[in-house]
Amino acid sequence: MGGDIPPPVDQLAAVSLTSDEASSSTAQKARFSDRVRINSILGRPDGGAGLAGQKVRISGWVKTGREQGKGAFAFLEVNDGSCPANLQVMVDASVSDLSKLIATGTCVTVDGCLKIPPEGKGTKQKIELSVVEVVDVGTVDPGKYPIPKTKLTLERLREFLHLRARTNSISAIARIRHALAMATHTFFDEEGFLYVQTPIITTSDCEGAGEMFQVTTLISTTEKLERELIENPPPTEADVEAARVVVKERGEAVAALKAAKASKEAIIASVAELNDAKVHLARTEERSRLKPGLPKVDGKIDYSQDFFGRQAFLTVSGQLQVETYACGLSDVYTFGPTFRAENSHTSRHLAEFWMVEPELAFADLEDDMNCAEAYVKYMCKWLLEKRYDDMELMAKNFDKGCIDRLKLVASTPFGRLTYTEAIKVLEEAVAKGKKFDNDVEWGIDLASEHERYLTEVVFQKPLIVYNYPKGIKAFYMRLNDDGKTVAAMDVLVPKVGELIGGSQREERIDVIMERLEEMGLPVEPYEWYLDLRRYGTAKHSGFGLGFERMVLFATGMDNIRDVIPFPRYPGRADL
Ligand code: 4AD
Ligand code: MG
Repeated sequence: MGGDIPPPVDQLAAVSLTSDEASSSTAQKARFSDRVRINSILGRPDGGAGLAGQKVRISGWVKTGREQGKGAFAFLEVNDGSCPANLQVMVDASVSDLSKLIATGTCVTVDGCLKIPPEGKGTKQKIELSVVEVVDVGTVDPGKYPIPKTKLTLERLREFLHLRARTNSISAIARIRHALAMATHTFFDEEGFLYVQTPIITTSDCEGAGEMFQVTTLISTTEKLERELIENPPPTEADVEAARVVVKERGEAVAALKAAKASKEAIIASVAELNDAKVHLARTEERSRLKPGLPKVDGKIDYSQDFFGRQAFLTVSGQLQVETYACGLSDVYTFGPTFRAENSHTSRHLAEFWMVEPELAFADLEDDMNCAEAYVKYMCKWLLEKRYDDMELMAKNFDKGCIDRLKLVASTPFGRLTYTEAIKVLEEAVAKGKKFDNDVEWGIDLASEHERYLTEVVFQKPLIVYNYPKGIKAFYMRLNDDGKTVAAMDVLVPKVGELIGGSQREERIDVIMERLEEMGLPVEPYEWYLDLRRYGTAKHSGFGLGFERMVLFATGMDNIRDVIPFPRYPGRADL
């Protein structure tokens, strides 16, 4: 990565192009398509002016279109998602039926010649495309298109998840999200961490919070059976008895033929009939046992009949599994979707979200905090370098302070204080008249209002709170010598509150066994996890960063539902 200072604003859009591309006098074609990306025209330091005279094909969706000169020509603002800026496209009425092109949302592929726009019209465009041929059009009926030119609220846009990627804000967020994902992989790769894919379907509850979605085929197989039993009712006891009688009779027939020394063929034929009757009886008996409803033993659901032969869930965290790789490959991370069935309707919670979880072997809580801080700073710098154009859009449309916040975080050391100190700070605030909805006393789980007060009002920068009471934290966190706190840490950031949760892991087998017991958790499901402590145990630490919380923090958006392409939350799972 380069320095902390982003390049001058008029050069920023170009930073994702290589210097060769940016200084080249020919427009770069997209490698797997015959069109030129709009970013490779407008994203140059010269805004595309150096390409004047070039013939290019571009494709994209019309943001706004207007006929001018009494229908002699039309101007289209076209965007292909490669950058926030639109290319201005001029089409003459002699080239195409303009009325088909101007509706917002229309998709166009056009060939044309890049030209410097005439001066003096207050235009900010450095280049425009004068169309020679309209190659392809995907038309829109403006009366029906759900995403009109006039802005819809973000809330309303959530009704059109399948079309909202065409809006400036959602596409900017998508590019920022992509950049943050690339920053994540680059950071950990540079630091020597291996990317490990942990399972999405799991049989272990990492956080022990009972917020897991169950994965089962029992319900659909039961429904199928119930439908089948209605169409084809199960045999009655009389049917079974009748089948038994047939077996008995055929058995007797075989015996009679044998006694009468009948021909071999006759006996074989009779035995075959007996076997058929036996098969029919077995089927009848089996079907007579079929009952509607979920399979049960001793009044409880019989999961041995479920798909995996046991109860299974969607993971709430890849931590436990990634620890197995850390205790063998030393530094690893996982980055995948996680699921929580908490009934939260807040602007910070999703039922499906992505988590980045590094796990560091031979590292203690302080190493863990250093890694978390370096990683968050790295992402902030990365955005300032790679997506300044989109950050400007976010600053203009949503949060004036978002760029300054990235700069601050990239350059300022995070505050660090223990949970006990944090409680003192909050208690002092309460004594001075600050009102919180949730009472403050040692032992409480910090509420979002407390976290945000600490990071936004007291420290005004990211803050790491560590050494939490053991009573409010998970069983795997390392017990401190005071016997009351565990080596846990949360990174709190302005706007969002908790961004990261992590800890040093309890590596002592006797202590972790005691913790399981203390928390009333069963040992059996965690035997494999305990083996990591039984055999060659190692000091290790890790954390989980909520990826959407990071996107929220970076963009300054207010609602987490707008920073993930397909948000899932109570009552909603569109598409
Ligand atoms: O603090 P959490 O629950 O920590 C863990 O799951 C650990 N196993 C991580 C580890 O040590 N490897 O979750 C980590 C982060 C939170 O700090 C928060 O940013 C995010 O995940 N998070 C959520 N994000 C969106 N929606 C939710 N419902 C979230 N729950 C947690
Ligand atoms: Mg947490």
